[in-house]
Amino acid sequence: MEYQEAYDKLNKYGQLHVLKYYQELDQEEQKILLQQIEQTDFDVLSLCQKKETLNPRGEIDPIGVMQLPEIAAKREEYTQIGLDAIRAGKVGAVLLAGGMGTRLGSDAPKGVYNIGLTRDVFIFQRLIENLLDVVHQAGAWIPLYVMTSDKNHETTTAFFKEKKYFGYNADYVTFFMQDMAPACDYEGKVYMEARNKISTSPNGNGGWFLSMMKWGIVDQIHKAGVEWLNVFAVDNVLQRIADPCFVGATIATDSAVGAKVVKKTAPDEKVGAMCLEDGKPSIVEYYDMTEELMAAKDENGEPAYNFGVILNYLFREKDLEEIVAKKLPLHIVEKKIPYLDEKGELVKPESPNGYKFEQLVLDMIHELDSCLPYEVVRNKEFAPIKNKTGVDSVDSARELCKENGIVL
Ligand code: UTP
Repeated sequence: MEYQEAYDKLNKYGQLHVLKYYQELDQEEQKILLQQIEQTDFDVLSLCQKKETLNPRGEIDPIGVMQLPEIAAKREEYTQIGLDAIRAGKVGAVLLAGGMGTRLGSDAPKGVYNIGLTRDVFIFQRLIENLLDVVHQAGAWIPLYVMTSDKNHETTTAFFKEKKYFGYNADYVTFFMQDMAPACDYEGKVYMEARNKISTSPNGNGGWFLSMMKWGIVDQIHKAGVEWLNVFAVDNVLQRIADPCFVGATIATDSAVGAKVVKKTAPDEKVGAMCLEDGKPSIVEYYDMTEELMAAKDENGEPAYNFGVILNYLFREKDLEEIVAKKLPLHIVEKKIPYLDEKGELVKPESPNGYKFEQLVLDMIHELDSCLPYEVVRNKEFAPIKNKTGVDSVDSARELCKENGIVL
């Protein structure tokens, strides 16, 4: 893109400040900035003004959940179905590791965080160890696809290499990068993170399948015969991945997606709750839980929206291809965004100072016709690390690891 075109594009969106330092840049820097202006979707910025009305909710109803007693009764049968699928190479795992982990407050990718106390125990290592349990049980490697972003790709791939993939077979590990979106202040003006660079953030975890397509991984998956993809977050250090019983239950119930859920600790706990929305499976975010929904009871007198998702889903791959063309809702999230101040110096704010734009994997559920919410034992499978201390933190995850006999 030439300067004039870039100028016109920015002018149209009220973003001319992006060119503030243009004349001071060398030719190469100018080229990089013009290229970024060309590639950036500034349309999303106008959404800040209608933030509150952006994603209206439909009619919410309770959804049936496969609970622990039912799973226990069928454990053997489901496990066998799951193991057969894994041995046939039909199951892949997708690690969502493109997030910035700003709440944890480390500049490094979250997965390289060391939660060990007497030895090194990196978050990535915990996840690989869990996956290796299943590899050993099934006697077959499970392809692992790792999503990174522009902000952490090099560090993540170098770390896996340095740590020799924590004993995983490197031939079965593929990295791919997600897309980025601009980040802006509360008025919708993009921040600059360098004199020739607009501030960007990873565009949420909802674009993972599209990114896999872009990177040619979906073609590889077809060739390899992978039919199911277990998508999981980087930060839950206890989760079971490609869990044979979960895989078997999802296949046996002919569900388009399985969603691992845990019993909520309180009606207002900050997790998304499984539900039906306009008759289709969905997740109601904690901030959308009304008093009425929190008070609703099922026929046994239990809270009707009692099960929270833990970002561990098993998607049927062919169904994803059908829904991928549909645009997922965009979420506007308040975050801490590093920016250049008036003097052109980089500031790393202590508190949120603007918005990021994200699509979320949970919105894919609503596009599908069937979903199996599958309960897991909370203290055995849910130890998320979002914060340094307090709720969902390094401290709470360490306690849970110890409770489960993991030496740290
Ligand atoms: P979170 O919602 O915890 O976001 O991600 P985050 O960006 O990592 O952390 P904070 O909010 O800044 O503290 C849940 C999962 O989705 C992945 C994360 O890596 C994590 O596994 N994710 C999130 C992506 O892969 N890409 C994104 O753009 C956002």
